Amino acid sequence: MLTDTHSHIYSGEYNGEVDEVIKRALEQGVTKIMLPNIDSSSIKMMLDLADSYTGICFPMIGIHPTSVKEDFKEELEVVEFWLSKRKFYAIGEVGIDLYWDKTFREEQEYVFSRQIQLAKQYDLPISIHVRESYEVVTDIIKKEYYPEMKGVFHCFSGTAEQADHVISMGFKIGIGGTVTFKNSGVDTVVQHVDLKNIILETDSPYLAPAPLRGKRNESANLTHIAHKVAQIKGITLEEVAETTTQTASQLFVLP
Ligand code: NI
Repeated sequence: MLTDTHSHIYSGEYNGEVDEVIKRALEQGVTKIMLPNIDSSSIKMMLDLADSYTGICFPMIGIHPTSVKEDFKEELEVVEFWLSKRKFYAIGEVGIDLYWDKTFREEQEYVFSRQIQLAKQYDLPISIHVRESYEVVTDIIKKEYYPEMKGVFHCFSGTAEQADHVISMGFKIGIGGTVTFKNSGVDTVVQHVDLKNIILETDSPYLAPAPLRGKRNESANLTHIAHKVAQIKGITLEEVAETTTQTASQLFVLP
């Protein structure tokens, strides 16, 4: 059994096919799928899927850094509204992205800080998106730090030393399809980090693992990622599945 800890399979990319996507995931042993939110426009699609697949799909709530624009205050109000209304399993996906656009950098920092405070208030883990922003993200975490803070650096792309630092702050390392790409450097991180601190993710529909690179990704492909982690660590696929699933269940407090 595997847990895909980051998958946007509710998105329009899967229009009319999502039942098949989930069926294929289950056939591959991917029995739990975490759904990170993007912004107010994605919440309905995400919750519809979560409510159709209780016990399989688990929703997060948050504003993706690339969705932080002029209307960030209204977007934050939407997140607060939903948190008060129903159960979510994480604040996500949130963070800082300075790759696509730096226009709203200050707003991104404010929105990320505010969402860490919400994670504290609701005692939830945080699913963090880091793109060309490692220093900014870790500075904000230090500023907002509280002892029970926990979460994941999703699709981790840093160095082994940065991974140690992330783990020391209470976070797990999210390993996705990039681990199967040549020269990504993620294999070095996987080799270095204790398996107990790793969780697996597809980041569907993005980042399809080899040999499917460039195609639309889906949760069933998590097996390629698990297989690669097993190969790098020289252990069995079963051991990878068991340990990463247990870590994910504890982190997100899954039933
Ligand atoms: Ni994502």
